[in-house]
Amino acid sequence: MDALQTDYIKVDPRHSDWKVIDRCASIIKNGGLVAFPTETVYGLGANALDGQACRGIFAAKGRPADNPLIVHIASVEDMERVAGSLPDRAYKCMDRFWPGPLTIVVPKNSNIPDTVSAGLSTVAVRMPDHPVALALIRVSGVPIAAPSANTSGRPSPTSAEHVREDLGGKINAILDAGPCRVGVESTVLDLTTPNPVILRPGGISREQLEDLLGQPVAFDRGLTDQNVTPRSPGVKYKHYAPKGEVILLEGSDNRIIARIKQELSTAREKKLKVAILCSRELAEQVKYLEADNLIILGSRQKPETVAAAIYGALRECDRTGSQLILTEGFARNGIGAAIMNRLEKAAGYRLIKL
Ligand code: TXA
Ligand code: MG
Repeated sequence: MDALQTDYIKVDPRHSDWKVIDRCASIIKNGGLVAFPTETVYGLGANALDGQACRGIFAAKGRPADNPLIVHIASVEDMERVAGSLPDRAYKCMDRFWPGPLTIVVPKNSNIPDTVSAGLSTVAVRMPDHPVALALIRVSGVPIAAPSANTSGRPSPTSAEHVREDLGGKINAILDAGPCRVGVESTVLDLTTPNPVILRPGGISREQLEDLLGQPVAFDRGLTDQNVTPRSPGVKYKHYAPKGEVILLEGSDNRIIARIKQELSTAREKKLKVAILCSRELAEQVKYLEADNLIILGSRQKPETVAAAIYGALRECDRTGSQLILTEGFARNGIGAAIMNRLEKAAGYRLIKL
């Protein structure tokens, strides 16, 4: 289906170019597909009220049909167009964290086609914190269903160039507003059960949610226990995976460094191309080792910089043909839960505790 001409349009996020937004909004209204920036990752958008248009998303991404889409809206009032009755907690969450990297799962209403909800009785909704995304939704006049704009199974796109790599020739347009600020996807929070459950850790932390709601917020057991089916369909698929083998190393610096040395010497015998992904702090201590590529994700003191760099780093490993990728584990609090979830998935859960 590589037949479409994909328009690649640069926009300045600080000054909406209304001509460009109008053009892309028309594509959405006419049932087409537009990739657009959000604060988390780029999304692949279609009219959320048009089942046929949304089927196009699944086709372009090669996405399994049982994996529902997140619906993006531009105001709390838009919630009425997509959701049924909401618990108070939903209003609290929207008030505090929207626009922002929090998706809430609530009962859907009949406007939402089965394609979007993958046949579930719920819908996942969020308001992105990005002027271009908000302008596109407003001018389109419809809620926009959008998964991350990558080919299914590849790392999510944090730049428009990543989108082009995966979906060029398969969608109508790509809006390029530069790199995404957060760099990991939104937190998906299920509000349909008495106790809120995080189905996917992301840009808003468990601690922030507990603080707001004044009650414990659990992580879905399916996130960590491979014997439990995750409640969020998307989470069960192999994801975020670069082509090389990824090994995630968790422990003290000294132990990680010793293990890296050991892995490097075996890899050298096998003539494997090796990349190390680590913090600035660890890089100081491993830069003299002979890895083919040393990618600094960010500082341990600023874990949000690490989160923002992960997907780009995994794609760089692919581009440079890394066959073995050794990555440092990070603290699991705050945004660290999302960082470690993505690294664990990239590693296919090959986590070595040292
Ligand atoms: O940051 C984000 O959330 C990005 C940007 C583009 O907004 N979107 C994104 O969408 O990450 P996607 O499709 O890559 O991931 C959506 C996740 C999947 O794991 C999916 O299974 C889950 O949300 N999901 C969607 N609707 C759901 C529902 N009704 N119940 C449970 N999980 C749902
Ligand atoms: Mg995705």
